[in-house]
Amino acid sequence: MPFTTTVITGATSGIGKETALALAKKDHAVYMLVRDMVKGESVKNELIELSRNKNIYVIYCDLADLRTVRDAALVLKSSLMSVNVLINNAGGIFSDYEKSQQGYEKTFAVNHLGHFLLVQHLLPLLERGQARIINVSSEAHRMGKPRLKDLEWKNSTYSAYAAYAAAKLYNIFFTRSLAVKYGPKGITAFALHPGLVSTNFGEGLTGANKTIMWLMRPFMTTPEEGAQTTIYLATAPRIDAKSGKYFKNMKVSNTSSKATDDAARNTLWDISIEMAELYL
Ligand SMILES: NC(=O)c1ccc[n+]([C@@H]2O[C@H](COP(=O)([O-])OP(=O)(O)OC[C@H]3O[C@@H](n4cnc5c(N)ncnc54)[C@H](OP(=O)(O)O)[C@@H]3O)[C@@H](O)[C@H]2O)c1
Repeated sequence: MPFTTTVITGATSGIGKETALALAKKDHAVYMLVRDMVKGESVKNELIELSRNKNIYVIYCDLADLRTVRDAALVLKSSLMSVNVLINNAGGIFSDYEKSQQGYEKTFAVNHLGHFLLVQHLLPLLERGQARIINVSSEAHRMGKPRLKDLEWKNSTYSAYAAYAAAKLYNIFFTRSLAVKYGPKGITAFALHPGLVSTNFGEGLTGANKTIMWLMRPFMTTPEEGAQTTIYLATAPRIDAKSGKYFKNMKVSNTSSKATDDAARNTLWDISIEMAELYL
C-alpha cells in the first residue's frame, strides 16, 4: 500500500486512540489534532512505542475554538502536500448549556462546526490526497431533530441528549453534503456508528444524565472493538461507490428518515459557512 497520511481528531482517548494505533501499525503517518498538548505528547509516545511507527505528530486544536482549528489547518498546510484520510472523531456531550470560544452552543461547536471548518481549510490537501473523510456519528442521530432555527436553545429548555442527538444527525448531513459537493474532486465521505463503547465519553455528565450513561455501561464494548468500523473505512479498498453512506459494524446501514432531508442538510451547510465565516 502506498504511504498514507491520516489526520485524526480525538485520538487522545477511547475510539480515536485505538484508531490511531491501528493506523500507525499499518504504517500511516498520523497527525493527531489535540486540545491538550501534554496529554497529546504522552499518547503520541505511547502510540510510537506500541506501533514502532515514528511518524506520529501532535498539533494543537481545540474544536471549541475556531481560531485554533484554522491555525491547526495552517500548520498541516505548511507541512503536508496532501492528506489521504481525515477522521473527524472527537466529540462530547455536556450536561449544562455551555458556549464555545466564539459563543456557539458547545455540543454543536465541538461535534460539528469545528470539523466543518477543518474540512474547509484542508480542501486542497484532501483533493490532492483523493481523501476519505470519516465522520464518527452515532445511532443517537435517530433521536435527533434538526433544530437549525434555534441552535442557541433560546426557544426551548436545553437537554444534553437532545443537543448530542442533533449534533450526530448533523454529522450525517455533513457527510452527505461532502459526498455530493466534493465527490467530483475525488473526495469521498463516510459516517459511522462505532457501537456502544466504554470510553471517557460522558465523563463530565452529572445527575440524571450521568445515571443514563451508567445504565448503559454493561452493554458497552471495548474501544478497540469500537474503532473497527473507522479503521475499516480508513483502509478498505474500493469503497468509493459507498461515499455519503452511514456504516455500522463495517457495513452500510440505513439512517433515520430525518437524516435524508436534503433541505435541512443544505441549511446546515449554509449556517455553518456563516458561523465559521470569520475563520475561513
Ligand atoms: N463511546 C460511545 O459509546 C460512542 C457511541 C457513539 C458515538 N461515539 C462517538 O465516538 C467519538 C469518540 O468518542 P469516545 O467514545 O472515544 O469518547 P472519549 O474517550 O471521550 O474521546 C473523545 C475525544 O475527543 C476529544 N475532544 C473532546 N472535546 C474536544 C475539543 N473541544 N477539541 C478537541 N478534541 C476534543 C477528547 O480529548 P481529551 O482527551 O482532551 O478529552 C478525546 O480525545 C465521538 O464523536 C462520540 O460522539 C461514541
